[in-house]
Amino acid sequence: MESVGEWPEPVLCVQSLSESGNLVIPNQYIKPPSERPSVCLTDTNIPVIDMTGLISLRQETMKQVFEACREWGFMQLVNHGVKTELLDGAREIWQEFFHAPMEVKKKYANSPKTYEGFGSRLGVEKGAILDWNDYYFLNYHANCQTKWPDYPPYLRDVMEEYSKEIQRLGKVFLKVFSINLGLNEDCLQNAFGGKDIGACLRANFYPKCPQPDLTLGLSSHSDPGGMTFLLPDKRVSGLQIRKNDQWVSVKPVLPNAIIVNIGDQLQVLSNSIYKSVEHRVVVHQDEERVSLAYFYNPRNEMLIQPLSELVTSKTPALYPPMTFDDYRRFIRTKGPQGKLQVDSLKSTR
Ligand code: OGA
Ligand code: NI
Repeated sequence: MESVGEWPEPVLCVQSLSESGNLVIPNQYIKPPSERPSVCLTDTNIPVIDMTGLISLRQETMKQVFEACREWGFMQLVNHGVKTELLDGAREIWQEFFHAPMEVKKKYANSPKTYEGFGSRLGVEKGAILDWNDYYFLNYHANCQTKWPDYPPYLRDVMEEYSKEIQRLGKVFLKVFSINLGLNEDCLQNAFGGKDIGACLRANFYPKCPQPDLTLGLSSHSDPGGMTFLLPDKRVSGLQIRKNDQWVSVKPVLPNAIIVNIGDQLQVLSNSIYKSVEHRVVVHQDEERVSLAYFYNPRNEMLIQPLSELVTSKTPALYPPMTFDDYRRFIRTKGPQGKLQVDSLKSTR
């Protein structure tokens, strides 16, 4: 595996590019025509799930979740019980961080070794086409190195409270996902490593872009982890998911709906019954956008493979066993690519 010690070329902060007043974007942000944002004509939206029906394991809601996992890999959650003030507070805090002077943000500059901290690129391929975003990547897990910013000062308190709330939702979902597969209710939680799963956060900041038609805020990718809880911007849309070779825009039905999606590890564990679906982000000329992606992941050392209960002579295992850590290292050398990374592993069997 190639070394991922340092960036192959100097990294530009996208927010600084955006503020430079330049009306053309640098060449390394210009996507090939086939990858540029296209007009989304479809009027469909991802399924809406009511959390109250999940907690009480209501049959109809369980069925809606099952369909969402199989057909969409995405759903949006309402009535989740996470307080509006907490959600607003979390978004505002990151907005404030990304608007801090460069001297502040620079202190947390990340490297491709762990990606922890403030960054503006993914992948280490020299000369790669880049995405129009800055981000902050944080590991929550106690055993991992954590690199919390100390500006704004209350960021850590807010984000730890936020984490508790998301973990509460995560446990409910893994239970429902397990039952829907005909398994013991704690089966997936155990496969993730039990009570203390791996959790990390990617705060995304998409600055205004003078030529939004030529680039993307985040290239097409599937999330490598277990499942993702995405808190989108309250005012500005941008997330699109791939459905039958078309891009569907995600339209939150309520300002505080939380988007939930299946990651690659759940696709592997479910032997492809649940789908980890490609998605991307488009940017805007007059609006910046902030979003918080919370990755509810297996612990690093967990060996992930199709659950034995789901492997039969008619449905053989589609993926080789791999620890989550190895899997993540494998895709981190590549950056976000326009294909489902996990599917490319099938051919290596
Ligand atoms: C991600 C992601 C979507 C968004 O961070 O993996 O897909 O809307 N984000 O920012
Ligand atoms: Ni994603």
